[in-house]
Amino acid sequence: MQIDMKDIVAAIDVGTTKVCTLVGRRSDEQGMEVLGYSTVKNTGMKKGVVFDVDATTSAIRDSVNAIEKNIGYKVKSAFVGVTGSHIQFENRRENIQTGNLKGVVTGEDTTRAAIEVSYKFEAPGRQMIHANAIGFALDGEEGIRNPVGMHTTQLEVEAHLVSGDADQIGRLKKAVESAGVKVEGLVLQPIASGFSVLTTEERENGAVIIDIGGGTSDIVGFRSGNVAYTGVIPIGGYQFTNDIATTFNTTFETAESLKIEHASADYQAGALHDEISVPVIGRDSLLKIHRLEICQLVRERALELGRMIRIKLESEQFGDLESDTTSDMTIVLTGGASNLPGFTDLVRRTVGVNVRHGVPQLGEMVPEDLKEPIYSTVLGILLSGVNEWVSDSEFKEIIPDANVDTQLMESDGVMQRLLGRIGNLVPKPISVARKGRV
Ligand SMILES: Nc1ncnc2c1ncn2[C@@H]1O[C@H](COP(=O)(O)OP(=O)(O)OP(=O)(O)O)[C@@H](O)[C@H]1O
Ligand SMILES: [Mg+2]
Repeated sequence: MQIDMKDIVAAIDVGTTKVCTLVGRRSDEQGMEVLGYSTVKNTGMKKGVVFDVDATTSAIRDSVNAIEKNIGYKVKSAFVGVTGSHIQFENRRENIQTGNLKGVVTGEDTTRAAIEVSYKFEAPGRQMIHANAIGFALDGEEGIRNPVGMHTTQLEVEAHLVSGDADQIGRLKKAVESAGVKVEGLVLQPIASGFSVLTTEERENGAVIIDIGGGTSDIVGFRSGNVAYTGVIPIGGYQFTNDIATTFNTTFETAESLKIEHASADYQAGALHDEISVPVIGRDSLLKIHRLEICQLVRERALELGRMIRIKLESEQFGDLESDTTSDMTIVLTGGASNLPGFTDLVRRTVGVNVRHGVPQLGEMVPEDLKEPIYSTVLGILLSGVNEWVSDSEFKEIIPDANVDTQLMESDGVMQRLLGRIGNLVPKPISVARKGRV
């Protein structure tokens, strides 16, 4: 079958423990088809940020080369996930140029609103990643979720803005581009995970996705289908492993295997008195410990993470989110470290709302072995790329007279989320993010 190159989309999740590249193609029948994927260990990141550009580039290059060999296509450009403690968010209200309004608010007006907010964003050393329109005010009347079809002379938008440190984003971009791949668009990693793991109902009713990776736990709250809250907790699987390594004076690699094989946050887990032999750094003989000791260590760390999640969710912005959605709120845990047995129950008890473990929910679009929490992010990045991308010329067609800085638009382009190509898998069409160039 002849494949049109413009239908090919690539996604790269540059994670703290691994780089994962995924190549898919837009398909009329099922929206998206995964052509191939490759995962390579990454040693160049700490807590979600690039500290060693060369090591990260090398992991990206290996991952991309492997996939190219496999599928027979060159990966020229890709959508790339971004995360880290440098990510900040704010809610901002902006008056939208009423000159463009024709009396009745259209879908284009709401799209334009998000774009205008995105282009008005100015903060030294920061780069905008996403602008999501979460509410509107018409002639001063606030709290309107979907104003399309309503009459007004003055449109204001309340937007949730996600930005990152320009230097950190620059390093990520350098790592990708040094591997020979152009950055086509940036996607906040947990937003991506939210696309692949949450159901449409969950995003509509109010849901929080927490992606617990190797270096960070990334949080995104969805309300009425849109992103309304983002946050990062600088704890991930690394800390669990590190606790084991330092307590038993063993290598990180040994501690990682001990964790994967024996750890549980469930204090009622069976076989707690099994004896385990641990190689100790600088000692010939093995240290004998009980499995219980490993479980106690990870349980303490899991309790700390559970408490930090609760504190984040009790924060002001989140309180706002919750009051709107009441008892339907669901928390979904994904990312590799969410695989720790007993962790979902522990978070449920600590936070006191519905909590479930989330694996990518993409039906037949995705091969079975990608339906694991470590692939939630890369699958969501691919969905964003497949679903949201609009070329500059298409964009100009949608909003020919948009009040945006055309020079910025020429150089950065605009990524516009569209409904439709893959049915109802993604939320409402009121979100924009700037493309690649920093
Ligand atoms: N069964 C398991 N029990 C406990 N931890 C696990 C399990 N399986 C994987 N992990 C942990 O998951 C982490 C890797 O998860 P993931 O691949 O989602 O991270 P990442 O995307 O590389 O990192 P980040 O998103 O923080 O940049 C590792 O710390 C690993 O130890
Ligand atoms: Mg990750």
